[in-house]
Amino acid sequence: MSADSARELYEAAKVASLKHRATYSDFPVGAAIRTADGQVFTGANIEVVSYPEGWCAETSAIAHMVMAGADGIVEVAVYAPKKDLITPCGGCRQRLAEFAHGDPILHLTDGTGIVETTTLSALFPRGFDAEALKDE
Ligand code: THU
Repeated sequence: MSADSARELYEAAKVASLKHRATYSDFPVGAAIRTADGQVFTGANIEVVSYPEGWCAETSAIAHMVMAGADGIVEVAVYAPKKDLITPCGGCRQRLAEFAHGDPILHLTDGTGIVETTTLSALFPRGFDAEALKDE
């Protein structure tokens, strides 16, 4: 990961946020994920009037990745211009972990750029994983 590639991911998340359908929260979010083979997929949050049925920007980006036949998230940027430092919600941390390749780098941002770079494991320690479903 270079500073340029991180900035590229930030810009991709920012552009994606323009597609937001934040009708009820008025809180636009964009996400960009990079896979181990270098592809970038993006998404925005999409809300519906039955509030719990909406979904997050990260989830949109993951859906685009899966539908492209890709897998293996290594780097993520989340953009939300109304928040000083946006972090993925709990459900999205679980979804990112599901499709992760190793321990993905997470860029936490504000409206101007990357504020902090961390890892998924730092934000989502001891997550529920497939090991838990195996017989003892
Ligand atoms: N949201 C995201 O898109 N990603 C997150 O990680 C946090 C929350 C969206 C969901 C909802 O559309 C809006 O932000 C307000 O919660």
